[in-house]
Amino acid sequence: MGVRTEAGSTIAVLSPAGPAAAAIAEVSWVLIGGAALLFLGTMALLGWALFRKKVSEGSERSMLWWLAGGGLVLPLVVLTALFFYSLHRAPPWKAKPPADALVISVTGRMWWWEIRYRDPSTAATIVTANELRLPVGRPVYLGLSSIEVIHSLWIPELGGKMDMVPGRVNHLLLQASRAGVFRGQCAEFCGEAHARMALHAVAMDSAAFDTWLAGQESAAKAPASSIARAGLTVFKAQKCAACHTVRGVAAESKLGPDLTHLGSRLHLAAGTLKNQPEQMKEWLTQVHAVKPGARMPSYARLPEGDIDALVHWLGSLK
Ligand code: CUA
Repeated sequence: MGVRTEAGSTIAVLSPAGPAAAAIAEVSWVLIGGAALLFLGTMALLGWALFRKKVSEGSERSMLWWLAGGGLVLPLVVLTALFFYSLHRAPPWKAKPPADALVISVTGRMWWWEIRYRDPSTAATIVTANELRLPVGRPVYLGLSSIEVIHSLWIPELGGKMDMVPGRVNHLLLQASRAGVFRGQCAEFCGEAHARMALHAVAMDSAAFDTWLAGQESAAKAPASSIARAGLTVFKAQKCAACHTVRGVAAESKLGPDLTHLGSRLHLAAGTLKNQPEQMKEWLTQVHAVKPGARMPSYARLPEGDIDALVHWLGSLK
């Protein structure tokens, strides 16, 4: 019984797709380059000391010069320069959101991400999960919090890490400079399924983003086929709505991810599986093999026809 857990994409560090990540990559390369230079310099001096032919007694003066110069002045100069350089390249302590920033709130859960947008034209709140869609070229101001334990949001291609702490809101200013899907990961150990707490940032051009956001605002469409109707019946009979919201269908519960537009997402189970019927079936019937610790019960006991109908209906929620 093979359980596939496909990430869908890999974490890419040092391949920046935005200004915050570009600053981090630049500092990293300067540090790596500087460390390499110092290492080579030290090895050259060591080689010179070991293999020089004639060992002459150095004068006390030249020994002092080496000690003070190499042991005191050099590190002082290098470390001071690095200190001011990294201060200069670090993001501001309290980044103020630019006027045109898109504000998105991300809440860490065990073990998934709740993501909320606000449509400025209608003031409606749009709730989704595990997928952070953002428009290319526009700053995004994230409000980060958590409910139960500390998590940390890290999308290396877009920026640095930021902790998500229950009872407070931390902020992170990100911007995507090109379209793409960027994998992020929870970067703070938060319990059993920490390793399977991934998310994907999907940077899209501005018009596509607006269309997507408007689509997310609508309630779920009524099932269009008999198998979809059967799936909805299974969803109701199994009381899935005790944890999940499907707007237009099921009473609001915020215990688990909002599924109103599940079919439009790229992944399942917080970046663990691709959102395809086969994999959704695997997820529903082998929850704890796919993601040990996940708080959803497994539905292996359901007749296969019921599972297939449920998978079909959930997949149709575009
Ligand atoms: Cu959430 Cu680690």
